[in-house]
Amino acid sequence: MTRPRLLRMGIVGGGRGAFIGRVHRTAACLDGNVELVAGCLSSTPERAIESGRDWGLADDRNYPTWEAMLDGERKRPEGDRIDFVSIVTPNHVHFPVAHAFASAGINVICDKPMVTTSEHARQLVEVVRSTGVVFAVTYNYSGYPLVKQARQMVSAGEIGRIRKVIVEYSQGWLASKIEESGQKQADWRTDPARSGAGGAIGDIGSHAEQLVSYVTSLGIQSICADLTSFIPGRRLDDDANLLVRFCHADGRECVGAGGDVLDDEPGARGILSASQVCVGHENDLSLRVYGTKGSLLWRQEEPNQLVHRIDGQPERILRRGNGYLGPAAAGATRLPAGHPEAFFEAFANVYQSAGEAIRARLSGRTDVGGIGLGGPFDYPDVVDGARGVEFILTAVRASASDEKWTRFEIPG
Ligand SMILES: NC(=O)c1ccc[n+]([C@@H]2O[C@H](COP(=O)([O-])OP(=O)(O)OC[C@H]3O[C@@H](n4cnc5c(N)ncnc54)[C@H](O)[C@@H]3O)[C@@H](O)[C@H]2O)c1
Repeated sequence: MTRPRLLRMGIVGGGRGAFIGRVHRTAACLDGNVELVAGCLSSTPERAIESGRDWGLADDRNYPTWEAMLDGERKRPEGDRIDFVSIVTPNHVHFPVAHAFASAGINVICDKPMVTTSEHARQLVEVVRSTGVVFAVTYNYSGYPLVKQARQMVSAGEIGRIRKVIVEYSQGWLASKIEESGQKQADWRTDPARSGAGGAIGDIGSHAEQLVSYVTSLGIQSICADLTSFIPGRRLDDDANLLVRFCHADGRECVGAGGDVLDDEPGARGILSASQVCVGHENDLSLRVYGTKGSLLWRQEEPNQLVHRIDGQPERILRRGNGYLGPAAAGATRLPAGHPEAFFEAFANVYQSAGEAIRARLSGRTDVGGIGLGGPFDYPDVVDGARGVEFILTAVRASASDEKWTRFEIPG
């Protein structure tokens, strides 16, 4: 059997001093299925070119602007141009780049939050539906093998009907006003013009929302939110506390679902906390899901294990790489048990699933959707991205409202 050719990757963002671009490049290429061939790595032409040289891009594909990159790549023969573009810029740049590349029929892998307005999210969903491109959003936490295991266990009913979800994402790096020190990542994240309407709720709350959605398949029906900016003069929230009422993913009430003796129980409830002023916390994302028969706990800082508790029994700790795990976890694992895998590998799993969808599209298939579109591939897609945008905007609205509950409208 001949080996399939490498997929050709282009990248926008990830220049000198940037954070996540390097992770994307490493993750995309981890399995040896992708090569980076083109890029516009920075917001200024000079820095873009310098940064592209650092990464060894050929001069004719090391572009000064993303517009020049789109133009240059479209002019190349089909068998030579990029198969997909990864967008790893601050949030306000995602929409113009994603919309232009997707409209040109080029597959897109975009970091979160996908865009900053409902209208832009709607336009991206529309362009994906009309062009049939693969559009992945790098909610990388759903790439972890034990998160996939949790999803599979919930879906198989192993913890029963879900009553309560607690998701916490605590960081401490914005506990002082470091944006004033010139810290690049803090600078744009605390600026509404570049970050969007959400601060911590957008930057990390969006990951928390997607993690819950991925593991439980629950939707959000309504939220009660309290967003705060603790640092004087900071224009976006740095701390978010939400109560959540869940529904089925399609918006139907949870109440009465299940058909068992618990039919008159209320639907699932949750607590979502996202904060960047929790002094001493690094990247402390944890998810606890409580069902009628058992519960699950997963922590990003201990990602190779999943705690499963069943009423009346000692807790079980499931560990990555063991034969007792299901196929979703097994398929997302590279190393044997005991050799830790983490952030890069989970990120690579999103790339792997999106890459499979891109290859399917190249072979003429049209059913290339991911999770949100209900497609056959296990990657967060444009619908998941649109839901995340709506989640952020609803939380901001809810926090400003005097009403206790604000309805979450699932984007159509
Ligand atoms: N999935 C995750 O875990 C995760 C983690 C961190 C960041 N992110 C997301 O990734 C994105 C980037 O975050 P970051 O922390 O890497 O930011 P960063 O500030 O470190 O890097 C952004 C890069 O984009 C470049 N850029 C800006 N405008 C550009 C333009 N018009 N054309 C080309 N390049 C341009 C900048 O020059 C810089 O090199 C954000 O959307 C953020 O929310 C996701």
